[in-house]
Amino acid sequence: MKSNLLVVSNRGPFTIEGEMGNLKYRPAVSGLVSAVLPAVKKVGGIWLAWAGRLTEKTLEVQTVIKDDFNFVEVLLSREELKGYYEGYSNGVLWPLCHLMPEKVVLSEENYRIYKKVNQKFAQRAGTLLKPGTLLWIHDYHLALMPYFVRQKYSWQRIAFFWHIPFPPVEIFTIQPWAQEILRGLLGADLIGFHTEDYRENFLRSVERVLKIPVNYEWGTVYYNGREIRVKAVPIGIEPKNFQKDVPKIEEIEQDLRGQIIFLGVERLDYTKGLKEKILGFARFLEKNPEYLGKVILLQVAVPTRENIAAYRNYAKEVLEEVQKVNERFGHSSWQPIKILTRNYSQDELIYLYRRADTLIITSLEDGLNLVAKEFIASRQEPGVVILSNRTGVARQFGVALKVNPYSPEEIAGQIKTSLEMSLEEKEKMFAKLKEQVLLKNNEWWLDNFLGKELMLSVAPGKYYR
Ligand code: UDP
Ligand code: G6P
Repeated sequence: MKSNLLVVSNRGPFTIEGEMGNLKYRPAVSGLVSAVLPAVKKVGGIWLAWAGRLTEKTLEVQTVIKDDFNFVEVLLSREELKGYYEGYSNGVLWPLCHLMPEKVVLSEENYRIYKKVNQKFAQRAGTLLKPGTLLWIHDYHLALMPYFVRQKYSWQRIAFFWHIPFPPVEIFTIQPWAQEILRGLLGADLIGFHTEDYRENFLRSVERVLKIPVNYEWGTVYYNGREIRVKAVPIGIEPKNFQKDVPKIEEIEQDLRGQIIFLGVERLDYTKGLKEKILGFARFLEKNPEYLGKVILLQVAVPTRENIAAYRNYAKEVLEEVQKVNERFGHSSWQPIKILTRNYSQDELIYLYRRADTLIITSLEDGLNLVAKEFIASRQEPGVVILSNRTGVARQFGVALKVNPYSPEEIAGQIKTSLEMSLEEKEKMFAKLKEQVLLKNNEWWLDNFLGKELMLSVAPGKYYR
């Protein structure tokens, strides 16, 4: 272990399954994990998180010692998971922050449990703090944790990164707990977002809801005698992890042969705009029948948060849409959409990223979208990116083929454009995107967000390996 960093998040780097004595560690599917893991591997420290296990089933908490960092598990009861994770985190904060208030289910009881679990994480983290530790908390599940830690350890240095969009104040305050959540976050010394828009929305909420003056230009808030810095620094990936040789995935090759491939890689989440993508693709086929039999939409759709009704319904609707489009345009030897409803390893994704011609992202709202960066980093050959203008990464990817995901016409139009672009145009666009991905990489994110804070928690000369 190289540094005094203590990372805390709800989702850990892996989920633990199986019985004692025969435990299996499966990598988690999460943009947060994909971005934080290379950072933690680089600087070392401890990662405290939930690993998908419930206390009723589990007798022993796991501490996993790795070469580069240590993992410490937090266990949740079924009731805690329901109130804290499914109820308030994913039933209130997630839809509000993604501008979908119609999906919000408010419940005092769920919020009470959310508070309790945030306290539990704070207590657990407290036992791991040492002089010089930098505590780095992640995402909307743990918004109250900085407050609880600050209450007990007033001197503690705390950084917080919010991985999803931060909505305008009018939306954020639909929930009656906005004040407490903002106070919770202000327990940190440093707060990060992916884009300037999210940062500004947060500062405006602090100003309006808590009636505290904020400095938009400097990104500072003075609160309870402390200066809190608020930054916009989009996460980056570790490009070299996507530049390795990977094996072929034989079983999908049969359906892909000879086709121009449009690839989608998403969790089956209603914010990801999968239904809109399918509608746009169908509109393209309708307007351009000469492409029937020549193109395919290959969609990885990973099941997610399946205990929540809105997710179960959405997954069902997406599969129904796929079936409709395949019945309408397909025939016995060609289906326009192939949907893969399992999760893929990093190596398998690299293969798919390289195998595709164009990546298509139609998120309705998306904090950043790491898949876009991974697609670019994986390839030597130029690939086209059709990108929803409602993603954080759209701010960085100036030259991608942008779409309003709510417009099937625009999606259909950009699919056509991607097919008509010359190799030279593709190369030019790709080179610009690659430059961004390589420059604003994982190390850049770490340096620009944590910077000096991190330096202080690492023994001299041991900043990076
Ligand atoms: N991912 C994965 N297996 C899959 C699909 C996705 O490991 O089958 C990873 C993907 O490589 C990426 C992350 O999950 O790093 C998704 O991150 P993104 O920011 O695109 O979206 P999120 O799911 O976090 O909202
Ligand atoms: C988003 C969130 C992460 C979360 C991930 C997967 O990326 O920002 O915090 O881990 O989705 O969702 P899950 O609920 O499975 O952790």
